[in-house]
Amino acid sequence: MANIYDADEDLEKQSFDFKLFVRTMKYIRPYWKNVLVMSAMVLTGLIINLVEPLIVRYIVDEGMMKKDLAVIIKMGAVLLIISIAGLIGGRIRINAVNRTTQGLIYDIRKEVFEHTQELSFRFFDGRPAGKIISRITNDVQAISDFVNTGIVSFISEIISIIGIIVIIFMINYKLALITVTVVPVFILLLALLKNASENAWTMTRRTIANINANMNETLQGMRVIQAFSRQKHNIERFEKINRENYKSHMHATVIQLLSWHLVEFVGMAGTCGVVWLGAGMIARNATSLGTLVAFTNYIWRLWAPLSALSKVYNQALSAMASSERIFQVLDTKPEIADSPDAIELEDIKGEIEFRNVNFGYNPEERMVLRGISFKVNPGEVVALVGPTGAGKTSIINLLMRFYDPVEGSIMVDGHDMRNIRISSFRKKVSMVLQDSFIFSGSIKDNILYGKPDARDEEILEAARITKVLDFAERFPEGFETDVEERGSKLSSGQRQLLAFARALVANPRILILDEATSSVDTETERHIQDALKTLLKGRTSVVIAHRLSTIEHADKIIVIDEGRIIEEGTHKELLDKRGAYYRLYLKQFQD
Ligand SMILES: Nc1ncnc2c1ncn2[C@@H]1O[C@H](COP(=O)(O)OP(=O)(O)O)[C@@H](O)[C@H]1O
Ligand SMILES: [Mg+2]
Repeated sequence: MANIYDADEDLEKQSFDFKLFVRTMKYIRPYWKNVLVMSAMVLTGLIINLVEPLIVRYIVDEGMMKKDLAVIIKMGAVLLIISIAGLIGGRIRINAVNRTTQGLIYDIRKEVFEHTQELSFRFFDGRPAGKIISRITNDVQAISDFVNTGIVSFISEIISIIGIIVIIFMINYKLALITVTVVPVFILLLALLKNASENAWTMTRRTIANINANMNETLQGMRVIQAFSRQKHNIERFEKINRENYKSHMHATVIQLLSWHLVEFVGMAGTCGVVWLGAGMIARNATSLGTLVAFTNYIWRLWAPLSALSKVYNQALSAMASSERIFQVLDTKPEIADSPDAIELEDIKGEIEFRNVNFGYNPEERMVLRGISFKVNPGEVVALVGPTGAGKTSIINLLMRFYDPVEGSIMVDGHDMRNIRISSFRKKVSMVLQDSFIFSGSIKDNILYGKPDARDEEILEAARITKVLDFAERFPEGFETDVEERGSKLSSGQRQLLAFARALVANPRILILDEATSSVDTETERHIQDALKTLLKGRTSVVIAHRLSTIEHADKIIVIDEGRIIEEGTHKELLDKRGAYYRLYLKQFQD
Protein backbone atom coordinates (compact mmCIF):
# COMPACT_ATOMS: atom_id res chain seq x y z
CA MET A 1 0.00 0.00 0.00
CA ALA A 2 1.24 3.45 -0.79
CA ASN A 3 2.06 5.11 2.44
CA ILE A 4 2.25 8.73 1.55
CA TYR A 5 1.89 10.28 4.94
CA ASP A 6 3.02 7.87 7.58
CA ALA A 7 6.72 8.18 8.17
CA ASP A 8 6.79 7.12 11.80
CA GLU A 9 6.23 3.46 11.03
CA ASP A 10 9.65 2.45 12.18
CA LEU A 11 8.72 3.43 15.69
CA GLU A 12 5.43 1.59 15.66
CA LYS A 13 6.95 -1.49 17.25
CA GLN A 14 9.60 -1.62 19.87
CA SER A 15 11.15 -4.44 21.76
CA PHE A 16 10.52 -4.44 25.47
CA ASP A 17 12.94 -1.99 27.04
CA PHE A 18 13.17 -2.19 30.79
CA LYS A 19 14.75 1.24 31.29
CA LEU A 20 12.03 2.85 29.20
CA PHE A 21 9.43 0.96 31.19
CA VAL A 22 10.83 2.15 34.53
CA ARG A 23 10.96 5.71 33.29
CA THR A 24 7.35 5.54 32.15
CA MET A 25 6.32 4.08 35.48
CA LYS A 26 7.78 7.10 37.27
CA TYR A 27 4.84 9.10 36.02
CA ILE A 28 2.53 6.84 38.01
CA ARG A 29 4.28 7.54 41.29
CA PRO A 30 2.15 10.57 42.24
CA TYR A 31 -0.90 8.33 41.96
CA TRP A 32 0.35 5.54 44.20
CA LYS A 33 -2.66 5.87 46.51
CA ASN A 34 -5.03 5.37 43.61
CA VAL A 35 -2.95 2.48 42.38
CA LEU A 36 -3.20 0.95 45.84
CA VAL A 37 -6.98 1.31 45.86
CA MET A 38 -7.07 -0.06 42.34
CA SER A 39 -5.00 -3.11 43.28
CA ALA A 40 -7.07 -3.76 46.40
CA MET A 41 -10.28 -3.66 44.36
CA VAL A 42 -8.85 -5.88 41.65
CA LEU A 43 -7.83 -8.36 44.30
CA THR A 44 -11.29 -8.26 45.90
CA GLY A 45 -12.87 -8.85 42.51
CA LEU A 46 -10.53 -11.76 41.93
CA ILE A 47 -11.35 -13.40 45.23
CA ILE A 48 -15.05 -13.00 44.56
CA ASN A 49 -14.55 -14.45 41.13
CA LEU A 50 -12.71 -17.42 42.54
CA VAL A 51 -15.07 -18.05 45.46
CA GLU A 52 -18.34 -17.85 43.53
CA PRO A 53 -18.16 -21.30 41.88
CA LEU A 54 -17.26 -22.82 45.25
CA ILE A 55 -20.45 -21.39 46.74
CA VAL A 56 -22.40 -22.67 43.77
CA ARG A 57 -20.92 -26.10 44.40
CA TYR A 58 -22.01 -25.92 48.03
CA ILE A 59 -25.53 -24.88 47.01
CA VAL A 60 -25.77 -27.78 44.53
CA ASP A 61 -24.28 -30.47 46.75
CA GLU A 62 -25.56 -29.46 50.16
CA GLY A 63 -28.73 -27.61 49.19
CA MET A 64 -30.21 -28.98 45.97
CA MET A 65 -29.04 -32.58 46.23
CA LYS A 66 -29.97 -32.85 49.91
CA LYS A 67 -33.13 -30.75 49.41
CA ASP A 68 -32.12 -28.38 52.21
CA LEU A 69 -33.97 -25.12 51.50
CA ALA A 70 -32.30 -23.31 54.41
CA VAL A 71 -28.85 -23.85 52.88
CA ILE A 72 -30.07 -22.66 49.49
CA ILE A 73 -31.54 -19.47 50.96
CA LYS A 74 -28.57 -18.78 53.21
CA MET A 75 -25.94 -19.37 50.55
CA GLY A 76 -28.08 -17.60 47.95
CA ALA A 77 -28.00 -14.54 50.19
CA VAL A 78 -24.23 -14.85 50.56
CA LEU A 79 -23.92 -15.01 46.77
CA LEU A 80 -26.08 -11.90 46.43
CA ILE A 81 -24.06 -9.95 48.99
CA ILE A 82 -20.81 -10.98 47.35
CA SER A 83 -22.09 -9.88 43.94
CA ILE A 84 -23.13 -6.51 45.31
CA ALA A 85 -19.75 -6.11 46.98
CA GLY A 86 -18.20 -7.01 43.62
CA LEU A 87 -20.21 -4.30 41.87
CA ILE A 88 -19.26 -1.65 44.42
CA GLY A 89 -15.64 -2.73 44.26
CA GLY A 90 -15.79 -2.48 40.49
CA ARG A 91 -17.08 1.10 40.69
CA ILE A 92 -14.38 2.12 43.12
CA ARG A 93 -11.80 0.50 40.88
CA ILE A 94 -13.00 2.32 37.77
CA ASN A 95 -12.85 5.61 39.65
CA ALA A 96 -9.32 4.97 40.77
CA VAL A 97 -8.30 3.89 37.29
CA ASN A 98 -9.80 7.01 35.74
CA ARG A 99 -8.15 9.28 38.22
CA THR A 100 -4.79 7.67 37.53
CA THR A 101 -4.98 7.51 33.75
CA GLN A 102 -6.53 10.94 33.25
CA GLY A 103 -4.03 12.39 35.71
CA LEU A 104 -1.26 10.71 33.78
CA ILE A 105 -2.50 12.12 30.48
CA TYR A 106 -2.75 15.57 32.04
CA ASP A 107 0.76 15.44 33.48
CA ILE A 108 2.59 14.09 30.45
CA ARG A 109 0.71 16.35 28.05
CA LYS A 110 1.54 19.36 30.20
CA GLU A 111 5.20 18.44 30.33
CA VAL A 112 5.45 17.89 26.58
CA PHE A 113 3.61 21.13 25.80
CA GLU A 114 5.70 23.18 28.20
CA HIS A 115 8.84 21.64 26.83
CA THR A 116 7.98 22.41 23.22
CA GLN A 117 7.50 26.06 24.19
CA GLU A 118 11.17 26.20 25.13
CA LEU A 119 12.59 24.31 22.20
CA SER A 120 14.72 26.13 19.68
CA PHE A 121 13.96 26.75 16.03
CA ARG A 122 16.16 23.94 14.86
CA PHE A 123 13.83 21.43 16.50
CA PHE A 124 10.84 22.73 14.56
CA ASP A 125 12.79 23.15 11.31
CA GLY A 126 12.65 19.47 10.48
CA ARG A 127 9.34 18.53 12.06
CA PRO A 128 5.85 18.94 10.65
CA ALA A 129 3.42 20.27 13.24
CA GLY A 130 1.21 17.21 12.77
CA LYS A 131 3.85 14.94 14.19
CA ILE A 132 4.34 17.06 17.27
CA ILE A 133 0.59 17.22 17.78
CA SER A 134 0.36 13.45 17.60
CA ARG A 135 3.01 13.21 20.31
CA ILE A 136 0.91 15.35 22.58
CA THR A 137 -2.33 13.48 21.89
CA ASN A 138 -2.05 9.90 20.57
CA ASP A 139 1.19 8.86 22.18
CA VAL A 140 0.14 10.10 25.58
CA GLN A 141 -3.13 8.23 25.16
CA ALA A 142 -1.33 5.00 24.30
CA ILE A 143 0.72 5.16 27.48
CA SER A 144 -2.35 5.77 29.56
CA ASP A 145 -4.20 2.89 27.88
CA PHE A 146 -1.34 0.63 28.74
CA VAL A 147 -1.37 1.69 32.37
CA ASN A 148 -5.12 1.29 32.49
CA THR A 149 -5.81 -2.03 30.83
CA GLY A 150 -2.27 -3.23 30.47
CA ILE A 151 -0.72 -3.19 33.89
CA VAL A 152 -3.87 -3.66 35.91
CA SER A 153 -5.18 -6.48 33.78
CA PHE A 154 -1.76 -8.08 33.43
CA ILE A 155 -1.37 -8.53 37.17
CA SER A 156 -4.98 -9.53 37.78
CA GLU A 157 -5.12 -12.00 34.87
CA ILE A 158 -1.96 -13.71 36.02
CA ILE A 159 -3.24 -14.00 39.59
CA SER A 160 -6.59 -15.23 38.37
CA ILE A 161 -5.07 -17.88 36.08
CA ILE A 162 -2.85 -19.18 38.87
CA GLY A 163 -5.73 -19.04 41.36
CA ILE A 164 -8.09 -20.97 39.11
CA ILE A 165 -5.54 -23.65 38.31
CA VAL A 166 -4.70 -24.12 42.00
CA ILE A 167 -8.38 -24.36 42.94
CA ILE A 168 -9.35 -26.82 40.21
CA PHE A 169 -6.47 -29.07 41.18
CA MET A 170 -7.65 -28.89 44.74
CA ILE A 171 -11.24 -29.87 43.96
CA ASN A 172 -10.48 -32.62 41.45
CA TYR A 173 -7.01 -33.20 40.08
CA LYS A 174 -8.10 -35.65 37.37
CA LEU A 175 -10.51 -33.18 35.79
CA ALA A 176 -7.94 -30.46 36.34
CA LEU A 177 -5.36 -32.43 34.36
CA ILE A 178 -7.75 -32.61 31.41
CA THR A 179 -8.35 -28.90 31.64
CA VAL A 180 -4.71 -27.95 31.65
CA THR A 181 -3.98 -30.12 28.63
CA VAL A 182 -6.27 -27.84 26.69
CA VAL A 183 -4.29 -24.78 27.76
CA PRO A 184 -1.26 -25.37 25.46
CA VAL A 185 -3.58 -25.89 22.48
CA PHE A 186 -5.25 -22.68 23.43
CA ILE A 187 -1.99 -20.75 23.70
CA LEU A 188 -0.75 -22.18 20.41
CA LEU A 189 -3.89 -21.06 18.62
CA LEU A 190 -3.66 -17.57 20.05
CA ALA A 191 0.01 -17.34 19.10
CA LEU A 192 -0.78 -18.43 15.55
CA LEU A 193 -3.49 -15.83 15.15
CA LYS A 194 -1.64 -13.13 17.03
CA ASN A 195 0.58 -11.99 14.18
CA ALA A 196 -2.19 -11.94 11.62
CA SER A 197 -4.40 -9.93 13.92
CA GLU A 198 -1.61 -7.54 14.90
CA ASN A 199 -0.74 -6.86 11.29
CA ALA A 200 -4.37 -6.30 10.46
CA TRP A 201 -4.79 -3.75 13.23
CA THR A 202 -1.54 -2.01 12.40
CA MET A 203 -2.86 -1.63 8.87
CA THR A 204 -6.11 -0.08 10.05
CA ARG A 205 -4.17 2.38 12.22
CA ARG A 206 -2.03 3.35 9.27
CA THR A 207 -4.95 3.81 6.93
CA ILE A 208 -6.68 5.97 9.50
CA ALA A 209 -3.54 8.08 9.82
CA ASN A 210 -3.56 8.45 6.05
CA ILE A 211 -7.16 9.61 6.13
CA ASN A 212 -6.38 12.19 8.79
CA ALA A 213 -3.33 13.49 7.00
CA ASN A 214 -5.19 13.68 3.70
CA MET A 215 -8.11 15.53 5.30
CA ASN A 216 -5.75 17.92 6.99
CA GLU A 217 -3.89 18.78 3.81
CA THR A 218 -7.09 19.05 1.80
CA LEU A 219 -8.74 21.42 4.25
CA GLN A 220 -5.66 23.62 4.47
CA GLY A 221 -5.24 23.75 0.74
CA MET A 222 -8.93 24.16 -0.15
CA ARG A 223 -8.39 27.50 -1.86
CA VAL A 224 -5.74 26.16 -4.17
CA ILE A 225 -7.73 22.98 -4.78
CA GLN A 226 -10.82 24.87 -5.86
CA ALA A 227 -8.84 27.44 -7.79
CA PHE A 228 -7.26 24.68 -9.86
CA SER A 229 -10.54 22.68 -10.00
CA ARG A 230 -8.84 19.65 -8.54
CA GLN A 231 -11.86 18.47 -6.55
CA LYS A 232 -12.50 15.44 -8.73
CA HIS A 233 -8.92 14.27 -8.52
CA ASN A 234 -9.03 14.86 -4.77
CA ILE A 235 -12.20 12.87 -4.31
CA GLU A 236 -10.70 9.99 -6.21
CA ARG A 237 -7.61 10.06 -4.07
CA PHE A 238 -9.65 10.17 -0.89
CA GLU A 239 -11.88 7.40 -2.18
CA LYS A 240 -8.84 5.18 -2.55
CA ILE A 241 -7.53 5.90 0.94
CA ASN A 242 -10.97 5.56 2.44
CA ARG A 243 -11.52 2.23 0.72
CA GLU A 244 -8.19 0.98 2.03
CA ASN A 245 -9.31 1.78 5.52
CA TYR A 246 -12.63 0.04 4.97
CA LYS A 247 -10.95 -3.06 3.65
CA SER A 248 -8.32 -3.28 6.33
CA HIS A 249 -10.92 -2.82 9.03
CA MET A 250 -13.11 -5.56 7.60
CA HIS A 251 -10.10 -7.81 7.36
CA ALA A 252 -9.11 -7.13 10.95
CA THR A 253 -12.59 -7.86 12.27
CA VAL A 254 -12.78 -11.12 10.32
CA ILE A 255 -9.55 -12.27 11.90
CA GLN A 256 -10.73 -11.13 15.29
CA LEU A 257 -14.02 -13.01 14.94
CA LEU A 258 -12.16 -16.06 13.76
CA SER A 259 -9.94 -16.05 16.81
CA TRP A 260 -12.91 -15.56 19.09
CA HIS A 261 -14.70 -18.49 17.51
CA LEU A 262 -11.65 -20.70 17.71
CA VAL A 263 -11.14 -19.75 21.33
CA GLU A 264 -14.74 -20.55 22.04
CA PHE A 265 -14.53 -23.80 20.18
CA VAL A 266 -11.46 -24.99 22.07
CA GLY A 267 -13.02 -23.87 25.33
CA MET A 268 -16.17 -25.71 24.43
CA ALA A 269 -14.26 -28.85 23.52
CA GLY A 270 -12.38 -28.70 26.80
CA THR A 271 -15.58 -28.20 28.71
CA CYS A 272 -17.22 -31.10 26.87
CA GLY A 273 -14.33 -33.36 27.75
CA VAL A 274 -14.57 -32.36 31.40
CA VAL A 275 -18.35 -32.83 31.47
CA TRP A 276 -18.08 -36.17 29.71
CA LEU A 277 -15.44 -37.46 32.12
CA GLY A 278 -17.09 -35.79 35.09
CA ALA A 279 -20.44 -37.40 34.30
CA GLY A 280 -18.78 -40.79 34.38
CA MET A 281 -17.19 -39.91 37.72
CA ILE A 282 -20.53 -38.86 39.14
CA ALA A 283 -22.02 -42.15 37.97
CA ARG A 284 -19.23 -43.97 39.79
CA ASN A 285 -19.76 -41.68 42.77
CA ALA A 286 -16.18 -40.45 42.34
CA THR A 287 -17.25 -36.83 42.47
CA SER A 288 -20.34 -34.71 43.15
CA LEU A 289 -22.58 -32.83 40.72
CA GLY A 290 -21.71 -29.58 42.53
CA THR A 291 -18.03 -30.16 41.86
CA LEU A 292 -18.68 -30.64 38.18
CA VAL A 293 -20.80 -27.50 38.00
CA ALA A 294 -18.12 -25.52 39.80
CA PHE A 295 -15.51 -27.03 37.53
CA THR A 296 -17.10 -26.06 34.25
CA ASN A 297 -17.63 -22.64 35.78
CA TYR A 298 -13.91 -22.31 36.48
CA ILE A 299 -12.94 -23.45 33.06
CA TRP A 300 -14.94 -20.69 31.45
CA ARG A 301 -13.27 -18.21 33.73
CA LEU A 302 -9.88 -19.47 32.62
CA TRP A 303 -10.16 -18.76 28.87
CA ALA A 304 -10.88 -15.07 29.14
CA PRO A 305 -7.72 -14.07 31.04
CA LEU A 306 -5.63 -16.26 28.76
CA SER A 307 -6.73 -14.43 25.65
CA ALA A 308 -6.51 -11.08 27.45
CA LEU A 309 -2.89 -11.75 28.31
CA SER A 310 -1.92 -12.12 24.70
CA LYS A 311 -3.22 -8.60 24.07
CA VAL A 312 -1.36 -7.03 26.98
CA TYR A 313 2.04 -7.76 25.54
CA ASN A 314 1.12 -6.05 22.30
CA GLN A 315 -0.22 -3.08 24.11
CA ALA A 316 2.98 -2.89 26.12
CA LEU A 317 5.05 -2.78 22.96
CA SER A 318 3.03 -0.02 21.39
CA ALA A 319 3.12 1.94 24.66
CA MET A 320 6.89 1.53 24.61
CA ALA A 321 7.05 2.99 21.12
CA SER A 322 4.89 5.89 22.27
CA SER A 323 6.96 6.60 25.35
CA GLU A 324 10.10 6.49 23.30
CA ARG A 325 8.66 9.12 20.96
CA ILE A 326 7.60 11.29 23.87
CA PHE A 327 10.93 11.00 25.65
CA GLN A 328 12.62 11.90 22.40
CA VAL A 329 10.87 15.26 22.58
CA LEU A 330 11.40 15.70 26.30
CA ASP A 331 15.08 14.83 26.01
CA THR A 332 15.71 17.40 23.32
CA LYS A 333 17.50 20.19 25.11
CA PRO A 334 16.73 23.73 24.00
CA GLU A 335 19.76 24.61 21.94
CA ILE A 336 19.47 28.27 22.75
CA ALA A 337 19.30 28.74 26.50
CA ASP A 338 20.47 31.28 29.06
CA SER A 339 23.94 30.62 30.38
CA PRO A 340 23.97 30.43 34.20
CA ASP A 341 25.70 33.79 34.58
CA ALA A 342 23.73 35.59 31.86
CA ILE A 343 23.12 39.22 32.63
CA GLU A 344 19.74 40.94 32.71
CA LEU A 345 19.59 43.90 30.33
CA GLU A 346 17.71 46.61 32.19
CA ASP A 347 17.79 49.25 29.53
CA ILE A 348 19.50 49.17 26.23
CA LYS A 349 20.78 51.87 23.95
CA GLY A 350 20.34 49.68 20.92
CA GLU A 351 23.85 49.29 19.55
CA ILE A 352 24.26 46.16 17.44
CA GLU A 353 27.46 44.71 16.10
CA PHE A 354 28.11 41.55 14.09
CA ARG A 355 31.74 40.45 14.36
CA ASN A 356 32.90 38.07 11.69
CA VAL A 357 29.84 35.86 11.91
CA ASN A 358 29.69 32.51 10.13
CA PHE A 359 26.48 30.57 10.23
CA GLY A 360 24.71 27.59 8.68
CA TYR A 361 21.48 25.76 9.50
CA ASN A 362 23.34 22.51 8.91
CA PRO A 363 26.91 23.80 9.18
CA GLU A 364 28.48 20.48 8.11
CA GLU A 365 26.58 20.71 4.85
CA ARG A 366 26.50 24.34 3.94
CA MET A 367 27.29 27.74 5.41
CA VAL A 368 24.58 30.31 4.80
CA LEU A 369 26.43 33.35 6.15
CA ARG A 370 30.16 33.98 5.87
CA GLY A 371 32.27 36.64 7.50
CA ILE A 372 29.42 38.99 8.29
CA SER A 373 30.60 42.12 10.11
CA PHE A 374 28.70 45.36 10.52
CA LYS A 375 27.78 47.83 13.20
CA VAL A 376 24.57 49.76 13.81
CA ASN A 377 24.68 52.72 16.19
CA PRO A 378 21.78 53.43 18.55
CA GLY A 379 18.87 55.00 16.70
CA GLU A 380 20.24 54.26 13.25
CA VAL A 381 18.31 52.60 10.45
CA VAL A 382 20.22 49.93 8.60
CA ALA A 383 18.81 48.24 5.51
CA LEU A 384 19.69 44.79 4.26
CA VAL A 385 19.19 44.23 0.55
CA GLY A 386 20.01 41.43 -1.83
CA PRO A 387 18.46 38.67 -3.87
CA THR A 388 16.15 36.01 -2.44
CA GLY A 389 18.07 33.38 -0.56
CA ALA A 390 21.04 35.69 0.03
CA GLY A 391 20.85 35.28 3.80
CA LYS A 392 19.02 38.42 4.97
CA THR A 393 16.44 36.63 7.11
CA SER A 394 19.20 34.45 8.51
CA ILE A 395 20.92 37.59 9.83
CA ILE A 396 17.65 38.50 11.57
CA ASN A 397 17.36 34.96 12.98
CA LEU A 398 20.78 35.40 14.54
CA LEU A 399 19.99 38.86 15.82
CA MET A 400 16.85 37.53 17.53
CA ARG A 401 19.00 34.67 18.80
CA PHE A 402 16.72 32.03 17.30
CA TYR A 403 20.04 30.41 16.39
CA ASP A 404 23.60 30.96 17.54
CA PRO A 405 26.41 31.71 15.11
CA VAL A 406 28.79 28.91 14.29
CA GLU A 407 31.72 31.33 14.52
CA GLY A 408 32.08 34.97 15.46
CA SER A 409 29.87 36.92 17.79
CA ILE A 410 26.99 39.33 17.93
CA MET A 411 27.25 42.20 20.37
CA VAL A 412 24.40 44.21 21.85
CA ASP A 413 25.48 47.39 23.65
CA GLY A 414 28.94 45.84 23.83
CA HIS A 415 27.81 42.57 25.45
CA ASP A 416 28.08 39.28 23.67
CA MET A 417 24.51 38.09 23.00
CA ARG A 418 25.32 34.72 24.49
CA ASN A 419 25.88 36.36 27.88
CA ILE A 420 22.58 38.20 27.94
CA ARG A 421 19.33 36.79 29.34
CA ILE A 422 17.40 36.02 26.21
CA SER A 423 14.03 37.24 27.43
CA SER A 424 15.48 40.50 28.74
CA PHE A 425 16.84 41.23 25.27
CA ARG A 426 13.81 40.10 23.27
CA LYS A 427 11.56 42.28 25.41
CA LYS A 428 13.34 45.28 23.89
CA VAL A 429 12.91 44.07 20.33
CA SER A 430 9.88 44.02 18.04
CA MET A 431 9.68 42.22 14.78
CA VAL A 432 7.34 42.47 11.81
CA LEU A 433 7.63 39.82 9.14
CA GLN A 434 6.32 39.52 5.61
CA ASP A 435 3.45 37.27 6.58
CA SER A 436 2.65 38.09 10.16
CA PHE A 437 1.12 35.43 12.32
CA ILE A 438 -2.04 36.76 13.89
CA PHE A 439 -3.57 34.74 16.70
CA SER A 440 -7.20 33.94 17.27
CA GLY A 441 -8.78 36.44 19.65
CA SER A 442 -9.83 40.06 19.26
CA ILE A 443 -7.99 42.85 17.48
CA LYS A 444 -7.23 44.26 20.89
CA ASP A 445 -5.83 40.93 22.13
CA ASN A 446 -3.51 40.87 19.18
CA ILE A 447 -2.20 44.35 19.87
CA LEU A 448 -1.80 43.46 23.54
CA TYR A 449 0.37 40.54 22.47
CA GLY A 450 3.23 43.03 22.13
CA LYS A 451 2.73 44.38 25.65
CA PRO A 452 0.26 42.49 27.85
CA ASP A 453 -0.01 45.33 30.39
CA ALA A 454 -0.52 48.16 27.87
CA ARG A 455 -2.97 50.83 28.94
CA ASP A 456 -6.00 51.56 26.76
CA GLU A 457 -4.50 54.87 25.60
CA GLU A 458 -1.35 53.09 24.46
CA ILE A 459 -3.37 50.58 22.48
CA LEU A 460 -5.42 53.32 20.92
CA GLU A 461 -2.33 55.33 20.06
CA ALA A 462 -0.65 52.33 18.40
CA ALA A 463 -3.84 51.55 16.50
CA ARG A 464 -4.20 55.14 15.36
CA ILE A 465 -0.64 55.51 14.08
CA THR A 466 -0.78 52.20 12.20
CA LYS A 467 -4.28 52.87 10.83
CA VAL A 468 -5.62 49.76 12.51
CA LEU A 469 -8.23 52.02 14.03
CA ASP A 470 -9.62 52.83 10.58
CA PHE A 471 -10.56 49.28 9.76
CA ALA A 472 -11.36 48.20 13.30
CA GLU A 473 -14.04 50.85 13.49
CA ARG A 474 -15.74 49.39 10.45
CA PHE A 475 -16.49 46.16 12.31
CA PRO A 476 -19.62 46.32 14.50
CA GLU A 477 -17.64 45.10 17.45
CA GLY A 478 -14.65 47.36 16.81
CA PHE A 479 -11.56 46.47 18.80
CA GLU A 480 -13.31 43.47 20.28
CA THR A 481 -13.85 41.85 16.87
CA ASP A 482 -12.65 38.27 16.91
CA VAL A 483 -10.20 37.90 14.01
CA GLU A 484 -10.31 34.10 14.18
CA GLU A 485 -7.56 31.60 13.64
CA ARG A 486 -4.55 33.19 11.92
CA GLY A 487 -6.56 36.37 11.54
CA SER A 488 -8.59 34.88 8.72
CA LYS A 489 -11.24 37.55 9.06
CA LEU A 490 -8.79 40.23 7.99
CA SER A 491 -7.23 41.00 4.63
CA SER A 492 -3.51 40.39 4.39
CA GLY A 493 -2.91 44.15 4.41
CA GLN A 494 -5.00 44.51 7.56
CA ARG A 495 -3.13 41.68 9.22
CA GLN A 496 0.09 43.47 8.39
CA LEU A 497 -1.16 46.73 9.89
CA LEU A 498 -2.18 44.83 13.01
CA ALA A 499 1.31 43.34 13.18
CA PHE A 500 2.74 46.86 13.07
CA ALA A 501 0.44 47.91 15.90
CA ARG A 502 1.56 44.90 17.91
CA ALA A 503 5.18 45.85 17.32
CA LEU A 504 4.65 49.52 18.11
CA VAL A 505 2.77 49.08 21.38
CA ALA A 506 5.76 47.25 22.83
CA ASN A 507 7.75 50.47 22.41
CA PRO A 508 10.88 48.53 21.39
CA ARG A 509 14.43 49.90 21.36
CA ILE A 510 15.19 47.75 18.35
CA LEU A 511 12.79 47.23 15.49
CA ILE A 512 13.18 44.57 12.85
CA LEU A 513 11.20 44.62 9.63
CA ASP A 514 11.65 41.65 7.34
CA GLU A 515 9.91 42.45 4.03
CA ALA A 516 7.12 43.78 6.19
CA THR A 517 5.52 45.69 3.35
CA SER A 518 6.19 43.26 0.51
CA SER A 519 2.81 41.60 0.52
CA VAL A 520 0.64 44.70 0.75
CA ASP A 521 -0.71 46.96 -1.95
CA THR A 522 0.81 50.36 -2.63
CA GLU A 523 -2.04 52.15 -0.87
CA THR A 524 -1.49 50.18 2.33
CA GLU A 525 2.22 50.52 1.91
CA ARG A 526 1.85 54.29 1.86
CA HIS A 527 -0.09 54.05 5.13
CA ILE A 528 2.65 51.93 6.56
CA GLN A 529 5.36 54.28 5.31
CA ASP A 530 3.65 57.12 7.15
CA ALA A 531 3.38 54.98 10.24
CA LEU A 532 7.01 53.96 9.90
CA LYS A 533 8.16 57.55 10.26
CA THR A 534 6.81 57.44 13.81
CA LEU A 535 7.81 53.84 14.34
CA LEU A 536 11.44 54.20 13.37
CA LYS A 537 12.06 57.46 15.18
CA GLY A 538 14.74 57.09 17.84
CA ARG A 539 14.90 53.31 17.49
CA THR A 540 17.62 51.14 16.12
CA SER A 541 16.08 49.49 13.10
CA VAL A 542 17.05 46.72 10.80
CA VAL A 543 14.94 46.84 7.67
CA ILE A 544 14.81 44.29 4.89
CA ALA A 545 12.89 45.56 1.91
CA HIS A 546 12.29 44.38 -1.56
CA ARG A 547 11.27 47.75 -2.90
CA LEU A 548 14.40 49.81 -2.63
CA SER A 549 12.35 53.02 -2.59
CA THR A 550 11.39 52.20 0.99
CA ILE A 551 14.96 52.22 2.27
CA GLU A 552 16.49 55.14 0.44
CA HIS A 553 16.71 57.12 3.64
CA ALA A 554 18.42 54.43 5.66
CA ASP A 555 21.60 55.51 7.46
CA LYS A 556 23.36 52.52 6.04
CA ILE A 557 22.54 50.03 3.31
CA ILE A 558 24.20 46.62 3.36
CA VAL A 559 24.10 44.55 0.18
CA ILE A 560 24.21 40.80 0.77
CA ASP A 561 24.83 38.15 -1.84
CA GLU A 562 25.31 34.45 -1.26
CA GLY A 563 25.85 34.94 2.44
CA ARG A 564 28.49 37.67 2.16
CA ILE A 565 28.43 41.44 2.43
CA ILE A 566 29.41 42.75 -0.96
CA GLU A 567 28.70 46.46 -0.56
CA GLU A 568 27.90 48.89 2.19
CA GLY A 569 27.13 52.61 2.34
CA THR A 570 24.35 55.18 2.03
CA HIS A 571 21.95 55.21 -0.89
CA LYS A 572 23.89 58.01 -2.54
CA GLU A 573 27.29 56.50 -1.94
CA LEU A 574 26.18 53.16 -3.35
CA LEU A 575 24.62 54.73 -6.42
CA ASP A 576 27.79 56.71 -7.06
CA LYS A 577 29.77 53.51 -6.78
CA ARG A 578 27.82 52.01 -9.67
CA GLY A 579 28.15 48.49 -8.28
CA ALA A 580 25.67 45.79 -7.29
CA TYR A 581 23.29 48.17 -5.54
CA TYR A 582 23.24 50.47 -8.52
CA ARG A 583 22.32 47.56 -10.78
CA LEU A 584 19.58 46.40 -8.41
CA TYR A 585 18.26 49.94 -8.28
CA LEU A 586 18.22 50.38 -12.05
CA LYS A 587 16.51 47.06 -12.50
CA GLN A 588 13.70 48.00 -10.11
CA PHE A 589 13.33 51.34 -11.78
CA GLN A 590 12.77 49.70 -15.12
CA ASP A 591 10.17 47.25 -13.76
N1 LIG B 1 15.38 26.77 8.50
C1 LIG B 1 16.25 26.58 7.52
N2 LIG B 1 16.90 25.42 7.41
C2 LIG B 1 17.80 25.22 6.42
N3 LIG B 1 18.12 26.13 5.52
C3 LIG B 1 17.51 27.32 5.56
C4 LIG B 1 16.54 27.61 6.58
N4 LIG B 1 16.11 28.87 6.40
C5 LIG B 1 16.78 29.34 5.31
N5 LIG B 1 17.62 28.42 4.82
C6 LIG B 1 18.53 28.61 3.67
O1 LIG B 1 19.39 29.66 3.98
C7 LIG B 1 19.62 30.48 2.83
C8 LIG B 1 19.33 31.93 3.19
O2 LIG B 1 17.96 32.06 3.47
P1 LIG B 1 17.34 33.42 3.99
O3 LIG B 1 18.22 33.99 5.02
O4 LIG B 1 15.94 33.14 4.38
O5 LIG B 1 17.37 34.30 2.67
P2 LIG B 1 16.69 35.70 2.37
O6 LIG B 1 15.96 36.15 3.56
O7 LIG B 1 17.84 36.59 1.99
O8 LIG B 1 15.81 35.48 1.19
C9 LIG B 1 18.72 29.96 1.75
O9 LIG B 1 19.54 29.24 0.84
C10 LIG B 1 17.77 29.00 2.43
O10 LIG B 1 17.51 27.89 1.62
MG1 LIG C 1 13.93 36.45 3.83
